[in-house]
Amino acid sequence: MQRFLPVLQQDNVDPQLTSLINTLMVACKEISFRLQQGELAGILGTSQEENIQGETQKKLDIISNQLIKDILLESDLVRAIASEEEDYIVAGSPNGRYLVCFDPLDGSSNIDINSLVGTIFSIMEVPEGQEGANEEMFLQPGTAQVAAGYVLYGPSTQLALTTGNGVRLFTYDNTIGEFLLTQEKMTIVEDTAEFAINMSNQRFWQAPMQNYINDLLAGNTGTRDKNFNMRWIAAMVGDVHRVLCRGGLFAYPTDAKNPEKPYKLRLMYEANPMSFLVEQAGGVSSTGYERIMSIQPTEIHQRVAVVLGSKNEVNTCLSYHK
Ligand code: F6P
Repeated sequence: MQRFLPVLQQDNVDPQLTSLINTLMVACKEISFRLQQGELAGILGTSQEENIQGETQKKLDIISNQLIKDILLESDLVRAIASEEEDYIVAGSPNGRYLVCFDPLDGSSNIDINSLVGTIFSIMEVPEGQEGANEEMFLQPGTAQVAAGYVLYGPSTQLALTTGNGVRLFTYDNTIGEFLLTQEKMTIVEDTAEFAINMSNQRFWQAPMQNYINDLLAGNTGTRDKNFNMRWIAAMVGDVHRVLCRGGLFAYPTDAKNPEKPYKLRLMYEANPMSFLVEQAGGVSSTGYERIMSIQPTEIHQRVAVVLGSKNEVNTCLSYHK
């Protein structure tokens, strides 16, 4: 099995970008190790802190954020970082070429139950001619990403990565401390009979999503004339990974549960990188009304509705929104 670095070198990925992703993976290997230690390392549970979005941070949210932040800010390649767990962007090297957005530990409510979590990342270039580091630099649509991926900390640790030439899956071999290529090209099947959505929010969704899901639930007794199955891991990394592996539709739609917070998922740390992966694997990713990667961001912590996955099924869902 090929190691991570030669695979990207053979694919003519920019050597600096390859080096940056490799650096990021050093932190992810450390997070993977800490998660395996779990309760033994005394790092599970909740901290006294809240992030800028008013969410209580888990101890491992803070530790993972610090590990990634420290390693990225040591790199000459990184101009600045934006993390879901940081209030503001953090400046790095004045000559750095890249901007890195990340969610250090997605699905962190799963930590205490020893279940799936992951790190999601998105890399862009500093717009030409821009000096210093500021939030505006980050406000580029998802189409500007030069790389995106996630590391899934599950029974094995896996990296799904795109640099704009398909999606590769690597599996971490901790006996040699390397990610090895285990799938050259991930492709999302176009049709599916599986969906993932938090059904407990059903009564708060808008009419198009209510109608679409009702038709899935009606199965072969309704207009779809086929039975559907449902899964919900409560960690976007886990749900999107399943979609990449065997197809499906994943949605976190607009809801009216909390009028001040109509969307749950973050554009820069979750929706954009996952959309890049999904599109590169042949799937579709939308808010219900527009392509996620075309959205012009207005602030780094903004949230968005998400419907992504198998092409034909997502397009069916979108047809209810027209
Ligand atoms: O954004 C955080 C997140 O944990 C996602 O990873 C996941 O898809 C979603 O929230 C879970 O939401 P809920 O708490 O509604 O199940």
